[in-house]
Amino acid sequence: MCGIVGYIGNKNAYPILIKGLQRLEYRGYDSAGVALLNGQVNVYKKKGKVSDLEDYITGQDIRGTIGIGHTRWATHGEPSDVNAHPHTSQNGTFTIIHNGIIENYSNLKNSLTEQGYSFVSETDTEVLANLIEYIYRTQETNAEIAVRIALSKVVGAYGLVIICNEEKDKIIAARKSSPLVIGLGDDEYFLASDATPIVEYTDRVIYLNNDDVAIIKKDELILKTIKNDILEPNVQKLDLGLSEIEKNGFDHFMLKEIFEQPRSIRDTFRGRLNAEKNEIRLGGLYHVYDQLVNAKRIIILACGTSWHAGLVGEYLFEDLARIQVEVDYASEFRYRNPVISEEDIVIAISQSGETADTLAAIQLAKEAGATVLGICNVVGSSISRETHAGVYTHAGPEIGVASTKAFTAQVTVLTMMAMMIAREKQLISVEKFTGLIKELEDIPEKIGKILENNDQFSDIAKIYKDATNALYLGRGVSYPVALEGALKLKEISYIHAEGYPAAEMKHGPIALIDENMPVVVIAIKDSSYDKIVSNIQEVKARNGIVIAIVTEGDDTIEKMVDHVIAIPETDPSLVSLLSTIPLQLIAYYIAVMRGCNVDQPRNLAKSVTVE
Ligand code: AGP
Ligand code: GLU
Repeated sequence: MCGIVGYIGNKNAYPILIKGLQRLEYRGYDSAGVALLNGQVNVYKKKGKVSDLEDYITGQDIRGTIGIGHTRWATHGEPSDVNAHPHTSQNGTFTIIHNGIIENYSNLKNSLTEQGYSFVSETDTEVLANLIEYIYRTQETNAEIAVRIALSKVVGAYGLVIICNEEKDKIIAARKSSPLVIGLGDDEYFLASDATPIVEYTDRVIYLNNDDVAIIKKDELILKTIKNDILEPNVQKLDLGLSEIEKNGFDHFMLKEIFEQPRSIRDTFRGRLNAEKNEIRLGGLYHVYDQLVNAKRIIILACGTSWHAGLVGEYLFEDLARIQVEVDYASEFRYRNPVISEEDIVIAISQSGETADTLAAIQLAKEAGATVLGICNVVGSSISRETHAGVYTHAGPEIGVASTKAFTAQVTVLTMMAMMIAREKQLISVEKFTGLIKELEDIPEKIGKILENNDQFSDIAKIYKDATNALYLGRGVSYPVALEGALKLKEISYIHAEGYPAAEMKHGPIALIDENMPVVVIAIKDSSYDKIVSNIQEVKARNGIVIAIVTEGDDTIEKMVDHVIAIPETDPSLVSLLSTIPLQLIAYYIAVMRGCNVDQPRNLAKSVTVE
């Protein structure tokens, strides 16, 4: 995710760009930059927020009626001045801004290096800038054609705005998977990642589709496909207010982020899963690969939701990769004088990458000589810099305090790690490995199917919004999902909720069962199915209320329970990516119906940077 803006017309571009970037900062905020075309191209970019960029630009030449701007959410290359966008090609011909991930950037970079190109940043975006320039110069063509040829060689996702210092009357825009909107004014055009920066200037917009390329002059817009077919622009009327647009029309960031999970999971495995080549590539682990594959023990450290993701990882690493795993609350680990050896692999999981307890636990593990890996969502965050290696989740900014898409992205990374090790150790067959890759690739679509049945979750929420307690039960890899479901409910609706291993219920919590307390049971078809059915019967025998999450086609449990939510079938190793979604939505709707502040629940912070 990131924020892109552009302007071409008769007004000064700079104030329009800056205001637009401020409106888009929720999409990414680790660096910002603008390029202004005024006879020449002036580029100003800075690590930090848009306000830092404004301070940096004070006193500089900000003239120009054509300009582009970016507020970054890094995926390749940590937040820094040099990795900030815009990126300029080596000979200064093209200046580009990009939202998305160029999956094949390293192959393209190697080819360009052989052609004499050098690179100043670590980003995939700079590779694209040089590729366009290389084609423009070697094929002696024009900017638009060079862009279309370059994009035909790109694998990945992009929203792009491009200016060329040899064709100073236009902005070229292109889109594949990352959103881009064009606002139509009178002899002026506005560009942005969403309509937020545009809505105050015009209500006439064109939403670019995948493989669209737009060539925009101040008095002319040509829309075509990457294959050069001319398109008739579909001009639509904007009918959303400013605040709704930031949330993409959703009432809360949390709901938007729940619905983003098909995209965020796809982005997390994009360029890393390859069923055709039968491989998983996690570049950030290359130099610790052997240690990881041969590890005797993995210690997972995290807090909150990330700790729940770590518990899912424990089941996956032990079941698939046959490596002993210990999962610790970072806050407990750091104070209990733990036994750590140099052979240990420690995995620290953190959405923010700034959680104080997790950072402190990492230091302890490093001092003991362990190899420490990070799984973070924020590129360049403290934890990502303190660990020896790691894998970024590409979930994009998670604004809602209650973590949702970060959890499923973390589980996606842990799943890929476990699968990769299991294959390397030949503990799973090629067929099983390929099958799991294909199943993982199908997860985003299956989540989409669950999200389509959204009404069932608000219907259930209506019934139980006034509950005072709730119990969540699961077995195996569904136990951490039960914990996560309980955490979601308690942290945004303030209803006391507990997650428990289903079999443990009879060792105490069964005393809580009565006709007022909803019991959510994750009862998917796996090896412990018969046992979970018995647990459901134990609850019902005591007049308990059961909301069951079942596998589609299960017609046994629906006869026994009060509510049944069916989720698509998938491999048991991947099911937590699906079973979590209903629990996120039930918690969300209950909290909304209780009038709670869903995005900023009381007493909570998005990142607990204090102990
Ligand atoms: C989860 O919904 C909470 N917001 C909280 O438990 C969070 O997961 C925890 O503070 C850890 O944060 P981190 O992933 O950024 O380290
Ligand atoms: N992949 C590009 C980078 O890391 C763009 C990231 C974004 O979408 O902000 O700079």
